[in-house]
Amino acid sequence: MKQNKYDDPAFFKAYAKMPRSSDGLKSAGEWEVFRAHLPKLFGKKILDLGCGYGWHCQYAVEQGADTVVGIDLSEKMLSKARELTGKGKVILEHCAIEDFDADEESFDVIFSSLVLHYVADLSSVFRKASKLLKSKGVLCYSVEHPVFTSNSSQDWHYENDKIQHWPLDNYFHEGKRKTKFLGSEVIKYHRTIETHISALLSEGFEISSLLEPKPSDEMVKKMGWYDEQRRPMMLIVTATKR
Ligand SMILES: C[S@@+](CC[C@H](N)C(=O)[O-])C[C@H]1O[C@@H](n2cnc3c(N)ncnc32)[C@H](O)[C@@H]1O
Repeated sequence: MKQNKYDDPAFFKAYAKMPRSSDGLKSAGEWEVFRAHLPKLFGKKILDLGCGYGWHCQYAVEQGADTVVGIDLSEKMLSKARELTGKGKVILEHCAIEDFDADEESFDVIFSSLVLHYVADLSSVFRKASKLLKSKGVLCYSVEHPVFTSNSSQDWHYENDKIQHWPLDNYFHEGKRKTKFLGSEVIKYHRTIETHISALLSEGFEISSLLEPKPSDEMVKKMGWYDEQRRPMMLIVTATKR
């Protein structure tokens, strides 16, 4: 069952207030690491799974990509993407990742930024990515880190309103987590790092990099994200089709 939380008006409004929504990728803590591990995009055919406001699609256009396709389940997110991406340069499609299809070997690079923890069947996404990518094509994705998603509360442990530590529990109990995000109940899926890597290897990828980005000192100062240096929040994987 696909969850279309981003079309919920209250959730969409709260998401719009996040720094990455108002300021774009320069206010996304993981962006510099994500960008540094992307292959050259010039002249390439790009697919963005769960494009949201379309920031990554716009970046691909600026890098001279030949074709950029962004898909998303949320009409509201896509309407924002239509506003923010260069006219006609990005093909935006209202479609769930689970339902998307295109010709075999039609893309050079597939991105997915902070989306796959909303998708129940990770292996089938990797199978599709492997089908859609040309040989030696690259899949680059970020997800919430398994250390972050393991506990349903997805919050710090506090004593007297003071953060004590990040609780890690049920790490090996994979699957659905009912959690709170932006004041709403949201379903996410927790998997171990081993599951990510094994699923990629089984679907015909080799792992090019696995990263646990920390916001830079400059970002920490600018955004006040001091606690973000205490535990990993994101995992970024780059995998190449064999
Ligand atoms: C956290 S936002 C990330 C947006 C964008 N990738 C970025 O990094 O700015 C998650 C996006 O994934 C989309 N999404 C969630 N589940 C999806 C699914 N099953 N198929 C397509 N899009 C999905 C949401 O609608 C939302 O736009």
